[in-house]
Order: sequence, then structure tokens, then C-alpha cells
Amino acid sequence: MPAEPITFQPEEINPLASIELWEEDVLKRYPDPESIATSKSSEEYRNYEAPARDTVKEFYRLNHTYQTYEFVREKQREYLQFNKKEMPVWEAFQFLNQLVDDSDPDTDLDQFQHLLQTSEAIRRDGHPDWMVLVGLMHDMGKVLCLFGEPQWAVVGDTFPVGCAYSDKVVYPEFFHANPDHDNSAYNTRLGVYEEGCGLRNVHMSWGHDEYVYQMMKDHLPEPGLYMLRYHSFYAWHREGEYSHLLDEHDREMLKWVQLFNPYDLYSKNPTPPVWSELKPYYEELVRKYMPSSLKF
Ligand SMILES: [Fe+2]
Ligand SMILES: [Fe+2]
Repeated sequence: MPAEPITFQPEEINPLASIELWEEDVLKRYPDPESIATSKSSEEYRNYEAPARDTVKEFYRLNHTYQTYEFVREKQREYLQFNKKEMPVWEAFQFLNQLVDDSDPDTDLDQFQHLLQTSEAIRRDGHPDWMVLVGLMHDMGKVLCLFGEPQWAVVGDTFPVGCAYSDKVVYPEFFHANPDHDNSAYNTRLGVYEEGCGLRNVHMSWGHDEYVYQMMKDHLPEPGLYMLRYHSFYAWHREGEYSHLLDEHDREMLKWVQLFNPYDLYSKNPTPPVWSELKPYYEELVRKYMPSSLKF
């Protein structure tokens, strides 16, 4: 059955005022256990954040409607050739930073600050240097936005395509609008996959996780690659879903993905790190693991 053509009005494509609103919403679903006591009441959130909530909901409606198996395969073919752009690593951070968050200039930090705060929190806790590098690189895939991809194909919780959706994926009701939902090749428990096939054989909804994983796959140890590839797969690492697709290796790697997640979610600090002091360490770290230029 041919997929229905997708047509958009331009203003309908990117409902979020900034892609950071997605992460702020994740934070509401999975609040920092250490700061719950001092956080705003849910009532305050509701009053203050209601319009943002609506745009997040609309964002997920688009994401769940259009992330089909075929869409994912097409984006893999398009982006995983890495023939779009090549630039020195440090230039790549400047490139990423063109994604300016203008929704709330008082509290929001630019992309590079989020990466640096994540990596610094990891470093402070004494984790291996490759994990610090994971912190620094983990959202580099968001450059997809700069190549013209809509928000729903860059950020948002990820999920397997080509098999039945878990109802633990946020807003599962929106999957009803996805053409795969009614396609018998894709809508069974296993769909196109085999029991216990391992996540490496599973196609995830397209976004910044898979893209940065593929970018970095020759440059980090396996646990670091899992952190990159599945950091937005909340239905797995937070909800314990999709066990029928996992193999022993995935079960082994889960703890690393879970170790990383709090640094991504809870390291935001309104006081930015002083880059001039940190620069020598990070230049050395990047030299140690990465080639001098990055291909997109
Ligand atoms: Fe991310
Ligand atoms: Fe992040």
C-alpha cells in the first residue's frame, strides 16, 4: 500500500518555539529525584507552562504520525553517507550553536553550554574520559535541524519502527495516525524483527541520537556508543519496554545508558562554565579520540 503523500503548511512543521522545549518536557516527566523537594508545584507548572505543553503535544503528534519505517530508511540513506559537509571539530560546535534558543533568554543556554555542562558534570564525578567526550558530543546530531529537518525528525523520545509501539512511549495515542499502525507488516509485536534480535538490528525513529552515533562509531568504546545511540530511548532505559527485541549485549549495556541519562537531564546550571579555563583539557580530549575533522 503506497504511503499517503505528506503535505504541510510551513507554520505547522515546527510547533516548538525552540527544540529545548522537548527536553524541558522530558524533565517534567522524569524530574531530578534530588531536587523534587524544592521544585515548583505541579499547579505552578500547569499555569506557567500550559502553552509550552500544547506545543510539545503538537510536536509529538507530528513525530508519531510521520516517523514511519519507510521515512526512517530514507533518512538513513540520505544522512549516513556523511557527504553533506566536513569541518574541524571545534568549528562543528560553532555550527551547532547556530541553533539559538530564543524562547527564554534568561534561563536557557546555547547548545554548546548544555554539552559542556553535561561533560563537566561527568568529569566532576570521576568517570572515564571517553564518557566526558560522550557528554560533549551527545547532541551534535541536532545539526540535522540546520540541514532543514523538521523538529520531529531531530528530537523527541525515540522508539523502534517496524513493529508494534509500546504504550509507554509518550503520547501513544498519536501512533494511530501513523500509516504503519495499520500495516500488518509492521504492527505486530515483532513486526519485521526477530525475538531477541538485539537493538543493533532494530531501526529507531530518526533523530539526533542515531545520527551522532553513526558519526562517532569508530571513535568511542562500546558503552559510550550506546549512550549516544539510545539516550532519547526513554521507553527502554526509563520504562523497561521492548525487552523482546533485546539481546544479552543490550541488557549488559543498559546500565551505561542509564548512567549517562541523569547527566543529560540534570546538569543544567544557570552559571555557565568558564570555557577559557576548560579549553586545554577539551582540546586534548578531542585530540585523543577524534579525527581532526567531522563529516556530516
Ligand atoms: Fe539529546
Ligand atoms: Fe542533551
